[in-house]
Amino acid sequence: MHEFILGAEVMHSIMQTVNQVAKHDVNVLITGESGTGKELVAKIIHLQSPRAENPFVPVNSGILSGLMFEDKLFGHEKGAFTGAICQEKGCFEMADKGTLFLDEVSDLPLENQIDFLRVLEDFCFHRIGGNEIIEVDVRIISATNKDLKNEVKKGLFREDLFYRLHVVPIYVPPLRDRKNVIPKMVDRFLNQSAINFKKPKPAVKPEVIDLFCRYDWPGNVRELKNLLERVFILNDYDTISVEHLPSDFLWHFKDPHRIKDLEEIRSEAEKKAIMDTLHRLAGDKEKTAKILRISPRTLRYKLQKYNIKYERSSKPPI
Ligand SMILES: Nc1ncnc2c1ncn2[C@@H]1O[C@H](COP(=O)(O)OP(=O)(O)O)[C@@H](O)[C@H]1O
Ligand SMILES: [Mg+2]
Repeated sequence: MHEFILGAEVMHSIMQTVNQVAKHDVNVLITGESGTGKELVAKIIHLQSPRAENPFVPVNSGILSGLMFEDKLFGHEKGAFTGAICQEKGCFEMADKGTLFLDEVSDLPLENQIDFLRVLEDFCFHRIGGNEIIEVDVRIISATNKDLKNEVKKGLFREDLFYRLHVVPIYVPPLRDRKNVIPKMVDRFLNQSAINFKKPKPAVKPEVIDLFCRYDWPGNVRELKNLLERVFILNDYDTISVEHLPSDFLWHFKDPHRIKDLEEIRSEAEKKAIMDTLHRLAGDKEKTAKILRISPRTLRYKLQKYNIKYERSSKPPI
């Protein structure tokens, strides 16, 4: 729960709904773009519910179809089909007394939707190849990044199943609609990385945050989290500045139709080489000039030209 960063007002109202629905076994349908935090919301509902001590079982609804899907959900008995060498439980049984999280539910194959609906009626089923009726006590939370109502209109999703799953809807907005949360997320994700990778947490220049707030984050929170992890792992700077961001990210801020001239490409490469060398030599300008085979005077000129401010540090060279 403490993992979840709220920030915007809309997220507080989501949390209010989460707290309400957690207490009761109602079916919840979480919608929102990929990477907005749907699975995290589902986990929080589970952890706030009386089922918290029991399993939370996520299933990706789209990757399997037909018998494979049935097998994944309901399990099989020994000898039920070639390769069924022993009895195996499906996700429904694994989630008994807990929560089954159906991710990307709009991708549930049409042919399997009816079986699924039937189980949701009474939570009774057979394992494939079995006669025993298995009864489970499972809470269903589903998520989709598509407009499920629209899938119903297109005939790709059963209307009856839609209403079954959609008892309480929760919409998680994209990150671009709650950009004020970005500074908090940056701070929290860097904290997490510092703990996970046992490295000191760097500071972040305000220009970096400005840039992050200008970007639309099509991959939402996941994209921001992954980018920060990448920058954190690949750099040892005390402060993250714009130059330390990956070029494929910075590319979003350039005019894609503009072709760089050779001078620009050369300058960028030069700047990067100087910064990297200085960094590796803990800011020793004399050695940097020597290694780059330029005179100290030329190095001073270039440091000024590219506005590189790198003071000699007490850290040992890498
Ligand atoms: N509000 C948030 N606070 C902290 N981490 C978040 C938040 N929203 C998303 N994340 C993180 O972003 C990543 C993507 O979230 P996830 O729940 O898998 O998204 P979705 O299921 O919508 O694709 C996960 O690592 C998750 O922990
Ligand atoms: Mg997901």
